[in-house]
Amino acid sequence: MNITFLLNGESVELSGVSPDATLLNWLRKNRHLTGTKEGCNEGDCGACTVMVTDENGPRALNACILFLPQLQGKAVRTVEGLSTNDTLHPAQQAMIDLHGSQCGFCTPGITVSMAVAHLNDDQNHDDVLAGNLCRCTGYAPIIRAAETLVDKPNPSYP
Ligand code: FES
Ligand code: FES
Repeated sequence: MNITFLLNGESVELSGVSPDATLLNWLRKNRHLTGTKEGCNEGDCGACTVMVTDENGPRALNACILFLPQLQGKAVRTVEGLSTNDTLHPAQQAMIDLHGSQCGFCTPGITVSMAVAHLNDDQNHDDVLAGNLCRCTGYAPIIRAAETLVDKPNPSYP
């Protein structure tokens, strides 16, 4: 199976793709984009959250249950691709400024969910973060970080 999609703004063409190859494994093993974490590996924890954009706009999806063939014609952005020209995305900066990270394992997925919500102008922070679990349970600073995004501009991605 051949597929073409955008990864962090760059075109990717793959051939001989197995129908059951997950985006999570491919990102980590083939692209060494290890910011996307493997937690439960079954769609429950949100550690593997990536931004996937199609004609319906950006969505936060779990890369562990997303198969490569499903990406045909879409754009994927990982936590590594949120920053632009060495400037952190406002969600990344807010997580730093508000101390939203403890062990940090959930942080990339949460940051991507916040970035997607920001693009969609979704300010219901309980909903935004509903798919992301933090084993360290430090939810208060994470929510405070999400709340600071309201007035921040979105980066413009290619
Ligand atoms: Fe994907 Fe937990 S690793 S949702
Ligand atoms: Fe440790 Fe969230 S900061 S899992």
